[in-house]
Amino acid sequence: MRSLLRIAVGSVVALTCAMAQQNTFDTPEGRQQGAALFQTHCAYCHGARGEGGRGADLTSGTYKHGGSERELYATIRNGIPGTEMPTVRATDEEVWKITAFVKTLGSAGLRETATGDPVAGKAVYETKGRCATCHSINGQGGNLGPELTAIGRSRGLQHLMASLTTPEADVAVPYRAVRVVTKSGKTASGIRLNEDDISIQLRDTGDNLRAFMKEDLKEISRDKPSLMPSYGTTLSKKELDDVVAYLSSLRGSL
Ligand code: HEC
Ligand code: HEC
Repeated sequence: MRSLLRIAVGSVVALTCAMAQQNTFDTPEGRQQGAALFQTHCAYCHGARGEGGRGADLTSGTYKHGGSERELYATIRNGIPGTEMPTVRATDEEVWKITAFVKTLGSAGLRETATGDPVAGKAVYETKGRCATCHSINGQGGNLGPELTAIGRSRGLQHLMASLTTPEADVAVPYRAVRVVTKSGKTASGIRLNEDDISIQLRDTGDNLRAFMKEDLKEISRDKPSLMPSYGTTLSKKELDDVVAYLSSLRGSL
């Protein structure tokens, strides 16, 4: 609760700063510099053309976290707590330039659309894929994997396909499994919460928070990084394309 409040206060401060200032960097030069900054700071998640990947598709012109200049600025300045969207290491002036560039993505008509058939994909999701045993959509389904109600807004097509075919490659941060063995021979397994050079914290399978100093550990293994099965061979190319089209169509109630 306290950390939630802190987040809320943080964004109010940023919003107020943003309101006090018009985007004076929304000029041809500003947008051009913003485009270069975007390649450095954002493209590895959002794609070179903003088409999305591990990050959201930014070409649709509609935004889960708000599409006004101020809202975009706040999203980019502060990141989105609880997701992989980080704060950016750039000056406020640079963030305004990035904001000006990001605004152009929504209207550039570069939007990528899924090639598969979302209706057929929904059927695969419900039957052959048995996806609902672990995932929920609009409150229906299991909880072992992340909620997918608005997954099409958070992730691009390429990431969605990779999630199905190589789930171990890019596990969403809150779902990273890890197992540690201490020098005295005790073991603990769970979801990694935090890690730095000297310590690691995890939530074990009994839902307890555990912290370990690395100097006390004999082993840290991440050999079973995703609990999501790979569908690269169990579903056909067409079925995979259809499921991706279905996932991409899930955009919540916006
Ligand atoms: C490590 C990956 C990563 C990086 C780097 C990253 N983002 Fe994101 N971004 C995400 C993810 C994931 C989301 C979706 C969060 C969610 O679930 O709502 C997101 C969401 C957003 C949104 C909100 C979209 C919406 O629908 O409201 C904007 C705008 C955005 N990012 C812009 C940027 C910009 C600009 C940069 C570079 C300064 C950047 N991001 C860097 C991963 C990233
Ligand atoms: C045995 C449980 C299980 C089944 C069955 C399962 N998943 Fe998953 N899925 C997970 C878990 C756990 C994660 C989170 C770890 C990861 O990203 O690999 C995940 C991650 C995902 C992600 C990435 C979410 C994100 O935020 O990027 C997508 C998309 C996804 N699953 C879709 C599906 C689809 C579609 C099916 C059926 C074809 C399916 N899953 C079947 C457990 C499962």
